[in-house]
Amino acid sequence: MLTLDKIRFSIDRGEEEIHLIDEASIEVEPGHFMAIVGPSGCGKTTLLKVIAGLNEESDGHIYWDGRDLAEEDLSPSEVGYVPQFSIAFDELTVEESIESAVRLRVRTRSRGEVREVRDRVIDQVGMGALRDRRVAVLSGGQKRRLGLALELVSNPTLLLCDEVTSGLDPKSEEEIVRLMHELSGDGRRIVVNVTHSLSNLELYDSVLVLFQGRVAYHGPPAQLTHYFSVESAEDVYPRLARRSPEDWHGSWLKHGGNYRRESGGGGEDESEGGNPSAIPGRVAQFLVLLGRRWRIFFRDRTQILLHLAMLLGFPILVAIFGLDGIPQPKHMPPAGSGNAIEQLSTQASVTADHLKIGGLISGLVMFQVILLTLMGSNNAAREIAGERLIFEKEKFGGLHPSSYIASKLCFLATLVLVQSLWMGIFVQIAVPTLPGDIVTRLFILILVNAAMTAICLGISGIMKTPEQSSLMSIYLVGFQLPLSGAVLALPDWIEPITRPFISAFWAWSGNLDSMKTEIFGQPINKVTEETSLVATNICVAMLLLHITAGLTAAYIGAKRHRW
Ligand SMILES: Nc1ncnc2c1ncn2[C@@H]1O[C@H](COP(=O)(O)OP(=O)(O)OP(=O)(O)O)[C@@H](O)[C@H]1O
Ligand SMILES: [Mg+2]
Repeated sequence: MLTLDKIRFSIDRGEEEIHLIDEASIEVEPGHFMAIVGPSGCGKTTLLKVIAGLNEESDGHIYWDGRDLAEEDLSPSEVGYVPQFSIAFDELTVEESIESAVRLRVRTRSRGEVREVRDRVIDQVGMGALRDRRVAVLSGGQKRRLGLALELVSNPTLLLCDEVTSGLDPKSEEEIVRLMHELSGDGRRIVVNVTHSLSNLELYDSVLVLFQGRVAYHGPPAQLTHYFSVESAEDVYPRLARRSPEDWHGSWLKHGGNYRRESGGGGEDESEGGNPSAIPGRVAQFLVLLGRRWRIFFRDRTQILLHLAMLLGFPILVAIFGLDGIPQPKHMPPAGSGNAIEQLSTQASVTADHLKIGGLISGLVMFQVILLTLMGSNNAAREIAGERLIFEKEKFGGLHPSSYIASKLCFLATLVLVQSLWMGIFVQIAVPTLPGDIVTRLFILILVNAAMTAICLGISGIMKTPEQSSLMSIYLVGFQLPLSGAVLALPDWIEPITRPFISAFWAWSGNLDSMKTEIFGQPINKVTEETSLVATNICVAMLLLHITAGLTAAYIGAKRHRW
């Protein structure tokens, strides 16, 4: 039994407090199929979210089977929430989507059991013929069925659906309402459907009419026209507009008793009520997510092509600049050799030589670093923001944010390793005369790519939309080169403010510092006079700090609720 007792949900708007839901009291029996109807903006979604626990009530109590939900939340497997938006990955098939939902939400003992639950759900929503079809090509009605299927995997006793029929043609709408009706038919499950449509009301056990946050009616659909003294259900909304919400609510409190008693739902068979199934552990969820991420990655041709173009093209771009190799630097003539004029002219030519060689080394390193930051931003800019609603949905269904972030970490780490190692090794092969230790160089290249990937993952966890997140990430990469101070020296007062945040500077400086061998030390010093280099160890520490900050932001962003 679901009981709402004088529920109020208020928001503060400046000085004044607005009650979006006020004094809502209803009782719903198990096996009951209820519609929440009302004109647009009257608070239907708000009320549904209060019941789901996504909005916390400001006043009043909600009881579920006698349990006060303020003290003990519904467990994720007891409740299913079907939002209006599409909730599955376009790249997956119907069967794969449902299977991953089973494996994320239900603790199963074997592959066989996963398949059993999956097939039961596919059967329940009548999608047998569509099981191999990609989500991207499903019709509106089929997507709604899939939305219901994803919630049914945990066999919830409370199924809350928001506008799952809106935007459908009348026939599809009726089919979905019939399906929800059937889903409430096992005698123990309550199905609540929010809709502003007033067709097919006869299929519901009861109808709740909401008017500006107030309950104007909650009773059997057959009595609706009688209560509102109208010819047909379609006339109810114009009728509502004739009196104030307080008036309607007052009338309902006065006369509602007669109607409420007649709104009996199913409730005849409560014997089936099984225990809510346990949620799978974090490791199990992590493995499902990681497998699914790779599958989606390999299905997205455009993404693959873009990644391949960067992976193969960027190192070639760098190598082109070093194809003539790095010449051996000239030595300063020992003091006292030749006359003063000869000495001066040799010194000038050695300096010019050092500047050229140092500039080439510094340029090659910076180019590598910048291209890797670009890849890093492409790796992660949309990673969380692009699937935020799906993630929120799955979190509501019991997904641990730590499993989610760990799966992203593993997936992105693979991209970072492949990109950075290939960049470093390819450039080393093409320009074998690059000074310094290749292992240190590879290590720093991995770190700078990882730093930008982690920071962009953080941005994508915090930003509201994928567009915002992409834009921020692109700006961040764009500012790397000018703010690194490696090309043009920055004004003295700006440098200490911006430099700590510029991953490219630390990677460039760390790399160059490690390349200062006996013969190349002077040329490198020559070009870095203006921007003094920082020791490799410190640069490595800074890049590790960037990675940690990015991942922390991603975790905090992922934990935050964003519906
Ligand atoms: N968090 C919020 N802050 C401020 N106003 C809100 C918030 N949530 C909802 N509202 C306002 O509350 C009212 C009810 O919104 P709600 O989404 O519940 O309406 P609805 O009945 O579901 O409408 P529709 O049929 O158009 O979906 C709207 O005026 C909306 O702007
Ligand atoms: Mg709504």
